[in-house]
Amino acid sequence: MKTAPHIASVEDVGDVRAAAGLPRYADILAASAATHYVLRCDGAEVAPEWVSQNVARLLGETVKSVVGQWNNFIERVHPDDRDEVLQNFTTVRAGKRLDHEYRLRHNHGHYRWVHDKVQAVANGSRGADFVIGSWIDVTERKEAADRFRQTAEKLRRTLIQTVGAMAQVVEERDPYTAGHQTRVADLATEIGREMGLSEDQNQGLRFGAMIHDIGKVGVPADLLARPSALNQAERELMQAHSAIGYRILKDIEFPWPVAEMARQHHERSDGSGYPSGLKGGAILLEARIIGVADVVEAMASHRPYRAALGIDAALAEINQCRDRLYDADVADACAALFRDGGYTLPDYRQSATSLW
Ligand SMILES: [Fe+2]
Repeated sequence: MKTAPHIASVEDVGDVRAAAGLPRYADILAASAATHYVLRCDGAEVAPEWVSQNVARLLGETVKSVVGQWNNFIERVHPDDRDEVLQNFTTVRAGKRLDHEYRLRHNHGHYRWVHDKVQAVANGSRGADFVIGSWIDVTERKEAADRFRQTAEKLRRTLIQTVGAMAQVVEERDPYTAGHQTRVADLATEIGREMGLSEDQNQGLRFGAMIHDIGKVGVPADLLARPSALNQAERELMQAHSAIGYRILKDIEFPWPVAEMARQHHERSDGSGYPSGLKGGAILLEARIIGVADVVEAMASHRPYRAALGIDAALAEINQCRDRLYDADVADACAALFRDGGYTLPDYRQSATSLW
């Protein structure tokens, strides 16, 4: 009769498996990409009960330096991540499995990012005092994501500065309308927000509004500054700015229809606008918004050929021509901003990029 081998420890299990020609559990765990652990939880005290040898690869620690030595596991978690990790362990002990990521301190003092897959183990009648889980080192992925975020942010700032510089090109030639596009951009974005446009669409709207008059670089400078009314031919030259703006912008791969915003910002709901005589919903929403913001800003400001008409006159014009010339929803959102939201146009001296 065979007797079962006496097993006193994990090492003994390993010996039995090795004798049977099977891989030892310790070797299986060592081959794992993860470091496995068991933690004993007692309130905010969380102490390692067991950890696999891979902790050496992950944190430069030995099993012995962790088990029985780390009085409180939480002290090894990055201070910024501690509250969330403790909160998560509470959730886990209530019976949920979860994945979370945080930083653990390496033996050399720096931190490694770990992806932790964790669940509770009930301990008989005492409930879930133990959590078991596995850490996978995701430091490189986290650092790559960080670098990507920084690059994207740098690109975003470069884009803002580039568009700001393009806006300034027009305004250097046309000092009478200094700050016009910046103020239109500010108002247009507020209207967009009032109308519930997504953050992304609103950002595109701001870019489009910032340079909606870029085509004025193709209009003779003396026309821009003319203190008297224009004749028909001159008016046509002036009106060409929206088509010129489109030509300038159309090959830039903005993630928004910025070139169309420039082209359509003088289109009007009844088809009386230019350059294409588009009607109602055929006009891009952003262009309908810029169109209203453009009129309001222009009427509220001084022009070479007239004094400022004031914001009340501007809002009266928008209200009177809502539906016929201006999108009714846009006109109403604009009126609500000034009347109920206490909105005022920003100072014209503010630089194009300071309002982002
Ligand atoms: Fe314009």
